[in-house]
Amino acid sequence: MDLFDKTRSDIGPLGQYSVFHGYFTFPKLEGELGSRMKFMGKERIVWSVNNYLGLGNHPEVRKVDGEASQDWGLAYPMGSRMMSGESSHHERLERELAEFVQKKEAMLLNFGYQGIMSLIDAILDRQDVVVYDKDCHACIYDGIRMHVGRRLSFGHNDISSLERQLERAEKFAEKTGGGILVISEGVFGMRGEQGKLKEIVALKEKYSFRLLVDDAHGFGTLGATGAGAGEEQGVQEHIDLYFSTFAKSMASIGAFVAGDPDVIKYLRYNTRSQIFAKSIPMPIIMGVLKRLELIKGNTEFKDQLWRNVRMLQDGLKENGFDIGNTNSCVTPVYMKGTPLEAGAMVKDLRENYDVFCSVVLYPVVPKEVILLRLIPTAAHTIEDIELTIHAFSEVARKLKAGEYDGTQGQNLMN
Ligand SMILES: Cc1ncc(COP(=O)(O)O)c(C=O)c1O
Repeated sequence: MDLFDKTRSDIGPLGQYSVFHGYFTFPKLEGELGSRMKFMGKERIVWSVNNYLGLGNHPEVRKVDGEASQDWGLAYPMGSRMMSGESSHHERLERELAEFVQKKEAMLLNFGYQGIMSLIDAILDRQDVVVYDKDCHACIYDGIRMHVGRRLSFGHNDISSLERQLERAEKFAEKTGGGILVISEGVFGMRGEQGKLKEIVALKEKYSFRLLVDDAHGFGTLGATGAGAGEEQGVQEHIDLYFSTFAKSMASIGAFVAGDPDVIKYLRYNTRSQIFAKSIPMPIIMGVLKRLELIKGNTEFKDQLWRNVRMLQDGLKENGFDIGNTNSCVTPVYMKGTPLEAGAMVKDLRENYDVFCSVVLYPVVPKEVILLRLIPTAAHTIEDIELTIHAFSEVARKLKAGEYDGTQGQNLMN
């Protein structure tokens, strides 16, 4: 059989959605990054972009991004940091990031996804046990898949399930002489629930483990200084490895991990995705330094973000919407309906109300549940929020009245 036969007969679980290419999958949002962007040639209110603090299009940020590209080009430094791609600016950014998230040392990662995968691989040996929340992001799953030792998952944010797995993990580790790594997230990006970091940390009294937290959605948005979910819950110092990406609040690309100096040094010399891959280009480094300078000691962006979050979440609740258990900026709206109804409703939202948001369906949520996911940012306006709540009320009423039945759904692309 030709290896490529499958590419024509079975395009995979996500591939089935390729009929919606350009609309539900791979849609093009055009124009300046902000709360209003063009989709299919018309301005829409956008709720799908993780530009939480609105920094992506901040004039000072744009200036530095542009100037740094002029000054350095996109190539420098070349090679991996270990071989030829080191610079004092990379080192400075690491020092400043470590300070910001209240850790002793930090290491840059050229991409978040590959970075965290690879650091999970680096820190775990065959005799170690990894215990992870079953709702963790795909990049954590992929990191865990590389681990040849014991892998145990616990129910999402279910502390008694975690405790049961820690008991099993300890028995295994006693036999092998290995250690235990627990992995959770600061904020679970689909439903907006913070990981129960305080409760997880409390288990350190009883069990011996190290804690890795992926705080992609918490960095910059939570905690008094913006240091994330650990700071928000008062346990930042008990997170042994703190990870975040630059792809959300920092509106850039790249990532970092922070922790104790000996652990970071170990990771520098053992994280294969960094040792054997190119260093982050200088314009990205200079741009992230600028973003960090803007948010350090200045909560103006975070305060504006949270004013918008509260207005949106309170407004949705007051209008009878179920937003689940979010305790972060991520705002899920749960409705009951079929995937076809969901498609027709989102199409109506986009085309007749000019509201662009993402829709999440089974298997991420149970069958018959529609999750519309809104990401408020500091860049949204009161008008954006009011128009969106009005649009949601309208489409929810139509959904209940059965107006998005199969017939409409089948004509999604018309
Ligand atoms: C929770 C979480 N971890 C990691 C990543 C991967 O980060 P990056 O986009 O920098 O590769 C993402 C997505 O951006 C994410 O949502």
